Amino acid sequence: MSKVVRLAVVGGQRGAAFGNALSSLLGKAELTAVCDLNSDVLKGWKERFPGITTYTSYERLLESSEVDAVFLATPMLIHARQAVLALKAGKHVLSEVIGSHTIEESWELIEAVKETGLTYMMAENYCYTRENMMVQHMAGAGAFGEITYAECGYIHDIRELMHGSDSSLTWRGDYIRDFNGSTYPTHSLGPIAKWLGINKEGGDAFEELITVNSKSRSSSKYFLEHFGPEHSGSQVGYWNQGDSSSTLIRTKNGVLISLRVDIQSARPHNMNHYGLQGTEGSYLAPRFGGEDPLVWLEKDQMAGQHPEWKSLWAYEQQWEHPNWKQWSEQALNTGHGGGDFFVMHEFVTAILENRKPAIDVYDAVTWSSVFPLSIQSVASGLPVKFIDFFKG
Ligand SMILES: NC(=O)c1ccc[n+]([C@@H]2O[C@H](COP(=O)([O-])OP(=O)(O)OC[C@H]3O[C@@H](n4cnc5c(N)ncnc54)[C@H](O)[C@@H]3O)[C@@H](O)[C@H]2O)c1
Repeated sequence: MSKVVRLAVVGGQRGAAFGNALSSLLGKAELTAVCDLNSDVLKGWKERFPGITTYTSYERLLESSEVDAVFLATPMLIHARQAVLALKAGKHVLSEVIGSHTIEESWELIEAVKETGLTYMMAENYCYTRENMMVQHMAGAGAFGEITYAECGYIHDIRELMHGSDSSLTWRGDYIRDFNGSTYPTHSLGPIAKWLGINKEGGDAFEELITVNSKSRSSSKYFLEHFGPEHSGSQVGYWNQGDSSSTLIRTKNGVLISLRVDIQSARPHNMNHYGLQGTEGSYLAPRFGGEDPLVWLEKDQMAGQHPEWKSLWAYEQQWEHPNWKQWSEQALNTGHGGGDFFVMHEFVTAILENRKPAIDVYDAVTWSSVFPLSIQSVASGLPVKFIDFFKG
């Protein structure tokens, strides 16, 4: 491989957000190809990056000797299959979330990474926002004492992404119709897993989960209002996925995690929905844009005074994550609170330095396994054990 990682974007919509991140990595990474089934999407890329080669066939792209690595930004349920094909074709893989939606494909993915020795990373950008990295820094240093509880949620009304302009369902519509579980878990669980040291040597592990979902109402209401009673999506009962999904996870070290996923209910989006409780401190993410993240640390509590929250930013000097100290300017030029820059930077440097990336295949399959395990739990009404992917 050359000293610059020659990258191909596969799935040109989401991939476009990484344009700025790639320009910050000049000298380390270069965009050489884009693959998409839609030739209009490819045309847009070609205008922006005239030197690239475009492909409508993924298999043809994988044959290219001008590509060292692929960024899979394709519909969610094909990530694992495409990742295995890319690894077997000798390409490193950065995969959008979730990494895999079945346990069988998760095992295949692990095998392919082990067999090829290539770099696989899941692009969980929410792990890299400034506040989430600062909390990770604090939790890792024991600032909250021993952690006992964490909460997280992805609450984002995406109903307008469930259909095209002709009212036909997109891949998002398809999976909301077909599955009932906690089907978009990693934006929430990824940062928490980092805070708890899940899968880290000497850290913790997810043990068991139970998921309970509400009834489904918001999508049928939306389809009725937008497409009328003739559209099958207007019928109550058409959508399998309940509006709100609540999962409780117990870890091997006895931490309780509460995870909510709701992608259908009408309300404003809030990218941050996190909380952390330890024996000596607590963290509370902002409820909406503009509100400060809050912390309370027992050691800073004045004797005799009532406990009061402080802004997380008051701890900037002490607890800013070293990566944010070094890269904040580049990060703030990219999407998702800087997360898109850090994901690309971590992937590319892991390849160049021939080391394990910060979100490796075991993290990807463990966090993503909430998708199939929660579906199993909702259907049976019973708790389900996590899979120990390291045992294989
Ligand atoms: N991390 C984040 O913050 C974030 C944000 C948005 C989307 N995503 C993820 O990114 C992925 C893509 O989401 P999106 O919103 O861009 O979806 P989208 O439907 O808007 O775009 C998908 C693109 O992939 C192309 N495509 C479909 N099948 C393909 C194939 N077999 N080979 C090549 N191209 C193919 C489509 O033509 C389309 O242009 C999803 O997994 C989603 O979960 C992540």
